[in-house]
Amino acid sequence: MSFSADDLIHIDADGYRDAYDRLPFAFQHGLHQLPMFQPGALAALAERYKDSPEDYFIAGSAATPGTKFYDVTQNSAKPHEALAQLGNAPVRVLLKRLEMHDSGFRDLRDTLFQRVMELRGGLGDEKIVRLESAVFISSAASTTPFHFDPEVTHFFQIEGPKQYHVFSPDVVAEDDLERFYVRGAVNIGQLDLEGCDPHEEHVFDLEPGRGFHQPQDAPHWVKTGTVRSVSYAFSFETTASRARGHVRAANRYLRVIGMHPQRPGPNPGADHAKAAVMQVVTPTLRGVRKVVRQVSGR
Ligand SMILES: [Fe+2]
Repeated sequence: MSFSADDLIHIDADGYRDAYDRLPFAFQHGLHQLPMFQPGALAALAERYKDSPEDYFIAGSAATPGTKFYDVTQNSAKPHEALAQLGNAPVRVLLKRLEMHDSGFRDLRDTLFQRVMELRGGLGDEKIVRLESAVFISSAASTTPFHFDPEVTHFFQIEGPKQYHVFSPDVVAEDDLERFYVRGAVNIGQLDLEGCDPHEEHVFDLEPGRGFHQPQDAPHWVKTGTVRSVSYAFSFETTASRARGHVRAANRYLRVIGMHPQRPGPNPGADHAKAAVMQVVTPTLRGVRKVVRQVSGR
């Protein structure tokens, strides 16, 4: 399948470059018109996932946006069974890594990624370490609780309305980021919604044809409206974004022993050394401290 990027995504280029990986930023798109996103095609796609439990996640709705992410009831149904339940109960179905299950979705992911990289001005000396796409199918009145993800995302509303509440990543305290990244796993970060200033919140009233860019670590919670919602997203990590995670993990070690480590960014030499030591299989506190002494001269 081949796609024309110009028909698929319309972004204000200057605004996008300025906001990239820093601020949530809205755009228009045409994905909802593609045959692959029509209800029959999505049902057939869900059926194909039934023997790939590692590639889907099915959950109920959160009681409130502040509910802990994994406290939400998990659902043992297969994706196509869960889709059939959507009219009766609050259910969220996430089909991950679409590109591994369907070549059309691989082409779509690649076309969109290439387009946003052109807009960004290329990858520079960064390399992509993970690039994945997913579809989210949710029943009416379901809530995804407050969390952040360690990846840059572009989110596209396909069917129905969805209200997306998102903050820029700089509302998250370094301490919270460090606690998350020290675990070294690609997962989701948990935060308290009460700790975030409502004035800093961006609210996107999404409907088919609307989408937005979500920076890495941008905290968000989401609720659907009165009918089923379908959304698509592609997300990626680069060598630089993953290295920032390693720096934060090293900083967590340092904070535990009473130091006040510098956040990633201002001192690239120190960042590089911290990131390198955290990629050792089992980083030790002594190792991290030694590296920081070397790069800081003490
Ligand atoms: Fe998320």
